[in-house]
Amino acid sequence: DWTMAEFRATKIAEIRAQVGTSRVICGLSGGVDSSVAALLIHEAIGHQLTCVFVDHGLLRAGEAEQVVSLFRGHYNIPLVHVEAETLFMNGLAGITDPEAKRKFIGKTFIDVFEAEAKKIGGADFLAQGTLYPDVIESVSFTGGPSVTIKSHHNVGGLPDRMDMKLVEPLRELFKDEVRDLGRELGLPDVFVGRHPFPGPGLAIRIPGEVTKGRCDILRKADAIYLEEIRAAGLYDAIWQAFAVLLPVRSVGVMGDGRTYDYVLALRAVTSTDGMTAEAFSFPGDFLPRVATRIVNEVRGINRVTYDYTSKPPGTIEWE
Ligand code: XMP
Repeated sequence: DWTMAEFRATKIAEIRAQVGTSRVICGLSGGVDSSVAALLIHEAIGHQLTCVFVDHGLLRAGEAEQVVSLFRGHYNIPLVHVEAETLFMNGLAGITDPEAKRKFIGKTFIDVFEAEAKKIGGADFLAQGTLYPDVIESVSFTGGPSVTIKSHHNVGGLPDRMDMKLVEPLRELFKDEVRDLGRELGLPDVFVGRHPFPGPGLAIRIPGEVTKGRCDILRKADAIYLEEIRAAGLYDAIWQAFAVLLPVRSVGVMGDGRTYDYVLALRAVTSTDGMTAEAFSFPGDFLPRVATRIVNEVRGINRVTYDYTSKPPGTIEWE
């Protein structure tokens, strides 16, 4: 008879056995997975853990502030907040290939970590919130030949030069189980219930080149979409909802003038583990209302579309 309370106790013992008296650095992404991993490890080894939150400038509106206040304010867990937006934006300039973006972001993340690890005196272990679906999806596509669909930013191990071992206490869990564990650990409900957010962040929601300007446009539109979803009481019925900024311009008309601006795609899916998904059916007047708000309130977008593709054959993210 397996419960989350038992899982928690077992993992705490395992983490203590694995880590001993060594120091651990945990990378926070702002999402549920890395937050739950950090809380669990903190419970196991207390001050031996330092969290490092690399703000790559690819987060949603308000996310960095929420992470910092939760960890420093609510839990009083040592947290290093690295503001690395410029580094990431400069490096992303000119990159349009999805895998190249993922690889650049993953590698740069590790570079920043390595530098921070050195600054705080080093650590033997790096903790990550890798889940079971991350492990299998980055290895092969179920049933098919061994093809990499997407290089997940939080799996794949570390470059040898880093000389750090991995602590991944959530590797056997699916998302709903991580949420149960989060509740078990006292993580606030709004945080536990958050939709998944990918490590490479908004970069994989902007097909084509990623720039700060495009990220800012996408952040505004995404915030309006999520605000409306919450206001309609639909947030918890949806596995994941987000906007995608397409690098395509279309002609529109506003007032007396012609516009020539970006197209936005809205996505919302239901799923139990992220491995398969169905497009969410919104009530009739919801999407037109959101489209009107976004076009009126976000400069740079003059057309909004909805993505009805299920997974498979689509993936949840666009890249
Ligand atoms: P896809 O797009 O492959 O996404 O259908 C499945 C789930 O995984 C999330 N995702 C990621 N999460 N690092 C993550 O931590 C990543 O690199 C990554 N790529 C996709 C995606 O948001 C969805 O929940």
